[in-house]
Amino acid sequence: MDPAAPIGVVGTGYVGLVSAVCFAHLGHHMVCMDVDAAKIERLQKGDVPIYEPGLDKLIDDNASRLTFTTSYDELLDACRILFIAVDTPPSPSGDADLSRVQHATREIAARGGARLLVMKSTVPVGTGEKVVADLEALGATGIAYASNPEFLREGAAIQDFLEPDRIVIGASRKEDGDQVEALYRGIDTDIVRTTVPTAEMVKYASNAFLATKISFINEIANVCEQVGADVRTVAHGMGLDHRIGPHFLQAGIGYGGSCFPKDVQALKQLAGNSGYHFQLLNAVIEVNALQKRRVLGKLTGRLGKLRGKTVALLGLTFKPHTDDLREAASIVLAGRLIHEGATVRAYDPMLDAGAHPLFPGVVITDEPLQALENADAAVLVTEWPEFARLDWAAAAAVMRRPLLVDGRNFIDPAVAAAAGLEYEGIGLGDPGSALAGA
Ligand SMILES: NC(=O)c1ccc[n+]([C@@H]2O[C@H](COP(=O)([O-])OP(=O)(O)OC[C@H]3O[C@@H](n4cnc5c(N)ncnc54)[C@H](O)[C@@H]3O)[C@@H](O)[C@H]2O)c1
Repeated sequence: MDPAAPIGVVGTGYVGLVSAVCFAHLGHHMVCMDVDAAKIERLQKGDVPIYEPGLDKLIDDNASRLTFTTSYDELLDACRILFIAVDTPPSPSGDADLSRVQHATREIAARGGARLLVMKSTVPVGTGEKVVADLEALGATGIAYASNPEFLREGAAIQDFLEPDRIVIGASRKEDGDQVEALYRGIDTDIVRTTVPTAEMVKYASNAFLATKISFINEIANVCEQVGADVRTVAHGMGLDHRIGPHFLQAGIGYGGSCFPKDVQALKQLAGNSGYHFQLLNAVIEVNALQKRRVLGKLTGRLGKLRGKTVALLGLTFKPHTDDLREAASIVLAGRLIHEGATVRAYDPMLDAGAHPLFPGVVITDEPLQALENADAAVLVTEWPEFARLDWAAAAAVMRRPLLVDGRNFIDPAVAAAAGLEYEGIGLGDPGSALAGA
């Protein structure tokens, strides 16, 4: 492999763009290709189309090693190694929709040449074999294949890419895996070398396990409410056990985002298609769906019927430090509230005031206090740091009823009480427990 040869990335979304920029930071020349002409035009002008902390600076710093194009010809003239980072959204059946992967592989096959395709998109186990068979059927016999799933988290994507917990590389031929591994030179981490199907499975199993941890702690939170315990202290006490660990034990209104919901569903579907009933994942999915609805129960428990009431949603993105709204809990919540007859106003630091197609009927405001004015309740949906700094006394003063349902246990109940708020979190059956040992 010529170390100076540019590397291609097909798809410049959250994963493709971050991967390309980080590889450029490691010294590689990168050609980034996307079918979205508007996105590429912005990137060519130095304008970053997504919000990811630190990404604009890293693009600036590595501009001389980054090329952006909408042309497969330009990409394939320049690059022999090609990462595929297109989206693999859920299809109506719950299977992953691989049409974009197929489109990209057809375009690549049509132009021939000896190449190495490296799959970064999350794809069901068996996809590698299918892609190789498709390529052969198209007469593109010189194309090798490797799987290199991505584990970055939006909001911390650059750090996750450059300091990953592990790099997983699946390939049927050692030399293909070696080429992929060589690209990561400069990153010090465990490298897991395996076959393509096993690499594909590592990704799904990891996301399904993390989602299971979230649904597990949410069920513990629900029991805490019944029996008078505090899930925050329970999670802390559990997480100190190194066999369990402290991560992904924050009770809340459930997981969302572009990965967990679709990947858990796709693994369930994959298992089902192969004749295995993955019982645990059914429960994980159901618990997550019910968890979003529990917020409504908390509101009606305090306010009675929601018809005619005004509810303010604080935060709409699926988590803080991203502009990503895919499968955000806020979408379901806003829809349910409107269905119940409530007026819904919302504030999110990433969203402009006005209307948004994902939130029909919701008025998005410029400032949190505008959303809260004369509201009968507020629901904290996304734990943006600015909500920790909000003047909650001023918030309580502008609300018709100063009720805060904290869907992320983000605001200290004592701070909320001091501000004059009526406060309800998730799983706080015994909110004094944190103080008991102090
Ligand atoms: N977003 C995450 O946090 C994350 C983390 C790990 C893995 N993944 C996986 O990575 C993959 C990409 O996710 P994403 O969030 O970056 O998606 P995205 O929607 O942000 O980006 C995908 C990009 O691919 C482009 N594209 C679609 N079809 C194309 C084609 N045929 N040719 C060229 N470009 C095409 C789209 O225009 C888009 O810009 C998915 O499989 C996802 O599951 C995502």
